[in-house]
Amino acid sequence: MRHLLSIEDLDRDEIERILSAAAFFAEVADRPIKKVPSFRGRLVINLFYEASTRTRSSFELAAKRLSADVLNVVASGSSVEKGESLHDTVATLSAYGPDVIVIRSPHAGAPGLVAGWTHAAVVNAGDGKHQHPTQALLDVYVLRQRLGSLEGCDIWIVGDVLHSRVARSCVQAFIKMGAEVTVVGPPTLVPAELAALGCNVRHTLEHIGEADVVYALRLQQERMSEDFLPSLREYAANYQLDSRRLKARQLVMHPGPVNRGVEISGELIDSSQSLIIEQVRAGIVVRMAVLVEVLSGSRLRDPGGQRVAVSAEPQLA
Ligand code: CP
Repeated sequence: MRHLLSIEDLDRDEIERILSAAAFFAEVADRPIKKVPSFRGRLVINLFYEASTRTRSSFELAAKRLSADVLNVVASGSSVEKGESLHDTVATLSAYGPDVIVIRSPHAGAPGLVAGWTHAAVVNAGDGKHQHPTQALLDVYVLRQRLGSLEGCDIWIVGDVLHSRVARSCVQAFIKMGAEVTVVGPPTLVPAELAALGCNVRHTLEHIGEADVVYALRLQQERMSEDFLPSLREYAANYQLDSRRLKARQLVMHPGPVNRGVEISGELIDSSQSLIIEQVRAGIVVRMAVLVEVLSGSRLRDPGGQRVAVSAEPQLA
């Protein structure tokens, strides 16, 4: 795999390979020395045109755990503020010889354009309402760790699906791994056309007790240029996830950041059925696996420079 632009780029075997590599890196993360030398002398550039806490910090940590050099460029404070175009910014940063450019952009398709302008491998860290493939991969990883398999798993994704690149990526990834996916929310935020992704579409939380996993989405008011909701109070009354509506056996996920008390209650976020912090933690090892995948296919280098297959057994001792 040369670039990771969309979950559509991956088949089930490639997803399995990334998850196996992530599990291997999770074992490394439990050791006193958490770094492997796989990317020594390599350069990873994180180019972020939108705000981020989890994705940017975990890509930085992932690259550092692989012993790469890391350059973080955020639009705010850069020459983007003087009007430099995306093309010229990428041409400028490419002069430093990066091996990987990780990009987040408010514009759908921007990572694909960047892939055409640089020799570096490109990883999409979120582009507009389009895709957030590494979020979906880490969500699959967390669920597999918890449930063993997603085969036949009933997953409900609740909230602002319309504006959510996470929802689009997760629907595709969960279905590829054998889950049954339902998207739920008001008709303005969950249009019937979403069924084209292969999921069920619902507009009420009735029957949510049937779900094995409930995945809450942030209400993305910054992407709403028109009135999608009568009020936040009415939205919360009809769609907020809380322990009244969910059973204790149901697992709860959210990609973050969370609007506490809007799409999900504070007590549910902090409850033992919440996987939200596990999702954050998984971001490092899954992004390590993605960086390795785009640079080396399915193989890792051991400290002596020998190529070794990724397997469940730790091989970089
Ligand atoms: N889930 C996610 O993409 O979070 P950040 O915006 O903090 O990176």
